[in-house]
Amino acid sequence: MYIENISLKNYRNYTELNLTFENKVNVILGENAQGKTNVMESIFVLAMAKSHRTSNDKELIRWDEEYAKIEGRVRREIPQYHLS
Ligand SMILES: Nc1ncnc2c1ncn2[C@@H]1O[C@H](COP(=O)(O)OP(=O)(O)OP(=O)(O)O)[C@@H](O)[C@H]1O
Ligand SMILES: [Mg+2]
Repeated sequence: MYIENISLKNYRNYTELNLTFENKVNVILGENAQGKTNVMESIFVLAMAKSHRTSNDKELIRWDEEYAKIEGRVRREIPQYHLS
């Protein structure tokens, strides 16, 4: 199983974000404070219903917004991790 897609709304620094992942190794690149860890955190929250960085859920909601939403789509397919 692998995560095919993740959609964020008002999550941390993202107003809207739609990310599609490959059935392989995925690399997230970005400058400091661009939101790389926020993306990883959102996947953790979706899986565990809590953050690995804070116990205060309000921190996950984009400043001045009422709510945050995380949606994910997983596929049954087995990931292909082989690097060639
Ligand atoms: N609730 C929030 N609302 C708006 N922005 C937020 C919120 N929480 C965090 N941020 C912003 O998210 C950014 C940090 O994102 P993140 O930690 O994911 O960056 P990063 O790409 O992992 O950076 P680094 O390379 O330093 O690890 C900061 O600009 C911070 O102000
Ligand atoms: Mg980081």
